[in-house]
Amino acid sequence: MATIQDLKNELKKLNAEYAKIKDLPADQRADFGKQINFKKQQLNAEIAAAEAAAEQEDVAPLDISAPCDINGQMPEFLTADFGSKHPLMTELDRVIAIYQSMGFDITESVQLDDEYHMFDSLNFAKGHPARDGYDTFRTEEGFIPPAHTSTMQNRVLSANKYKLDEGKAIAVAVPGRVYRNEDVDATHEHTFYQCEGVYVSEDCTLGNMLAILREFFEKYYGQKLNIKTQPGYFPFTEPSLEFLIEKPASLGGKGDGWLEMLGCGMIHPNVLKAAGIDPLKYQGFAWGGGIDRLVMLRYGLNDVRNFEAAKLDFLKEFAC
Ligand code: DAH
Repeated sequence: MATIQDLKNELKKLNAEYAKIKDLPADQRADFGKQINFKKQQLNAEIAAAEAAAEQEDVAPLDISAPCDINGQMPEFLTADFGSKHPLMTELDRVIAIYQSMGFDITESVQLDDEYHMFDSLNFAKGHPARDGYDTFRTEEGFIPPAHTSTMQNRVLSANKYKLDEGKAIAVAVPGRVYRNEDVDATHEHTFYQCEGVYVSEDCTLGNMLAILREFFEKYYGQKLNIKTQPGYFPFTEPSLEFLIEKPASLGGKGDGWLEMLGCGMIHPNVLKAAGIDPLKYQGFAWGGGIDRLVMLRYGLNDVRNFEAAKLDFLKEFAC
């Protein structure tokens, strides 16, 4: 049987026949041309069929002699009746509802981002070592699955700056899925969730931000909390802070454990400028922190990997 290569060689030869047409008497040319076209169509069809057959051959056949246990147990499924929302999504809804009740708009973050939103628009200077602090994945084309929800700051500021012209504030919370190329252990996942907050007006202060954060955490945990901040560093805020809450007794705290819940600060003037907002007229604050961590404290969980592991035992505990 002719190989694909044989057929292709034949096609090449056939194509060369077209050159002969001009040497033929005028009344024979049309017929000759038609014959070549006909043969060419046939050859192309044969090549396509041979290529399709070759592709089929690459697929390994099923091993029908493999042992089969007909008394095997049915794998454990969650039926539609018992299926339920993933606990992180339930908690994310709770987080969103709290921010909405405080007057924030909600925008979901994107799942594939670029260098500009991940770094440049956030005041990371080119080649600055702070870029290395974020272990990003990259696609072959250079896109970045976002390592934090802060990649949305520039978009949120640009899309909402018209509100400032109307004398209103920008107040947006941005939940989303984020990705980091780091070693996975009980407290680190490569895929997790964050929620960002962005607020800009003519006269807001760091004090306003701390009031908002206290309110958020007290609503989420349903009780009064002790809070504190400590200095941090993020290129996109100045000053930058880490926000901590004291682990409440009802959640296993013994009165001496402070937990870092998120990073925050006053938005750096360069970040406002990159979004076309005049930093001499307006100021803002922003924060961002992990949802997984928030939920783990609420339910006394100690292994973040459970969230992505699709373990039914774990998920069933939250099924309602
Ligand atoms: N994006 C930072 C992180 O994931 C957290 C953060 C810090 C967000 C300061 C902010 C901020 O909006 O102002 O490490």
